[in-house]
Amino acid sequence: MCGIVAYVGHREACPIIIKGLKRLEYRGYDSAGIALMNESLNVYKKKGKVSELEAFIAEKDVHGHIGMGHTRWATHGEPNDVNAHPHFSSSKSIAIIHNGIIENYAALKTLLLEKGHTFQSETDSEVFINLIEDIRTNNHCSLEEAVRLALHEVVGAYAIVVLSKDDPDQLVAARKGSPLVVGVGQGEYFLASDATPIIEYTSDVIYLNDHEIAVIKNGELDIRSKEDVKQTPYVQRLEMALESIEKGGYEHFMLKEIFEQPRSILDSMRGRMIAESNHMMMGGIREFENKFVNAERIIIVACGTSWHAGLVAEYLIEDLARIPVEVEYASEFRYRNPIISEKDIVIAISQSGETADTLAAIELAKSKGATIFGICNVVGSSIARATDAGAYTHAGPEIGVASTKAFTAQVTVLTLVAMIIGSKRGTLETTKLHELMVELENIPDKVEKALQLDEQIQEISAMFKDATNFLYLGRGYNFPVALEGALKLKEISYIHAEGYPAAEMKHGPIALIDAQMPVVVIATKDSSYEKIVSNIQEVRARKGRVIAIVTEGDNVIPAMADYVIEVPETSEHLVPLLSVIPLQLLSYHIAVMRGCNVDQPRNLAKSVTVE
Ligand code: M6R
Repeated sequence: MCGIVAYVGHREACPIIIKGLKRLEYRGYDSAGIALMNESLNVYKKKGKVSELEAFIAEKDVHGHIGMGHTRWATHGEPNDVNAHPHFSSSKSIAIIHNGIIENYAALKTLLLEKGHTFQSETDSEVFINLIEDIRTNNHCSLEEAVRLALHEVVGAYAIVVLSKDDPDQLVAARKGSPLVVGVGQGEYFLASDATPIIEYTSDVIYLNDHEIAVIKNGELDIRSKEDVKQTPYVQRLEMALESIEKGGYEHFMLKEIFEQPRSILDSMRGRMIAESNHMMMGGIREFENKFVNAERIIIVACGTSWHAGLVAEYLIEDLARIPVEVEYASEFRYRNPIISEKDIVIAISQSGETADTLAAIELAKSKGATIFGICNVVGSSIARATDAGAYTHAGPEIGVASTKAFTAQVTVLTLVAMIIGSKRGTLETTKLHELMVELENIPDKVEKALQLDEQIQEISAMFKDATNFLYLGRGYNFPVALEGALKLKEISYIHAEGYPAAEMKHGPIALIDAQMPVVVIATKDSSYEKIVSNIQEVRARKGRVIAIVTEGDNVIPAMADYVIEVPETSEHLVPLLSVIPLQLLSYHIAVMRGCNVDQPRNLAKSVTVE
């Protein structure tokens, strides 16, 4: 949440920062601002998108070779010009950009007010910069030292960059709990919440660790711990293509990412399975093979769409590997004193690898001795680094706020995990394993085929674009898909939608059904097919309008549903990888038809780095 970017070097800073902010806009888009150092330290900020900031500064003198920018997702204070970052200290001699939350800001603010500091905004970040100024004035110390001392006073999460009028060639940055990447160029440095604003200029990056402070001064980078101990940075070479973070001719990132799924699913299984020779391997599991084989329980922690992928994994792991699985919302798990033992394996799933609740759940499970296995998409992310072992999903950057290709990549990796553990434990016999491997290899082509339904789904979307409610029903492996379909629709089209296990309908939700209620039923041919056919009848009997997702060639459901969308046939274990595709397209087209901003839906941000 919130994107930050900074630059120091031989180029003009402003265009680099504005472009970087646009790349980071998926992290928050309430307001944006920029601070530039030339003859003085100037701050420009505006409510709304980065494009509004860009228009606002068009006539201003924005030259300079050092600066920083911020795109905001509001936590403290409504989105407006004043609460936008950067924030000046009271004397206007230093400015800050901040991503995170300072939990003790109220107490600090009271103290600072007593000392005569003044505040323009309602933000915790303005308290942070005034604290730095206060410490600097009282201790007559360097900017770097003042930042270091301030970090000992603040409680909460932060990635910050500080710029000072009195140190015109210096950037000071620090992180705890919020991501910060340093890009190392030729005589120039970049700072950003993720690598996307950087890769155009350099592939060499350093992922700052929690409690580290980076000072870039006179063309030199110095990284120290909060205790002022010099650190040796690890420079990593990024393998991210510029095209992967651009729209590539699609109208929206979400659509591009939906259509990328044949490739992203393939990439997530690449090198991990060869069906021909019945061979499977996953580095992260190999390291902890005994733990996995002897695990008494697996706990999955995640949020949102990643939690839905976790639910699919519960079905897969229990069925194929016969280990009991519990799937937990990370936000609940972390606060309810859960029972965790050293024999437990905790699987943390996160696209961004930065979700604050998931990270906290990991820390809790770690403190109780559990082995933590991470499934993340973003390489080098905080969760990837906090786990004992793991597997990247390799879906490539996901920019659209609504998660699509990350979900199918997570499900693919989790399927592989279930198959590997099942075969090692002897609960998945070789013939069945081989069948699943062959079928998994066929999935990218079948997803490609499902994507050809786009035009049909667009027509169906036109019929339902004005609906005010939707129900999504599924059973077994398709129950998590129903939840995912409902989440996709509500987050980008703002239509109220609920996902339910179809059999639960009779316990309440069926009361909602009338001629106005669209009901999406995911009714592919599987072990609960007969049952879900009965559930469709129940909906029809109450005049609900049924949109059914069925297996190709189904000749029963078309006679009873209003609209039928056929996906290719596959194994029951793999069906979520196909049945979710029409639901992603349905929500996309409905949202577009309603004029919604699909890639940047209201109130949301891509990476939820605050709890
Ligand atoms: O980055 P993560 O996978 O940890 O994010 C979890 C959720 O915030 C995320 O899946 C969210 O629900 C998406 N907007 C869903 O489309």
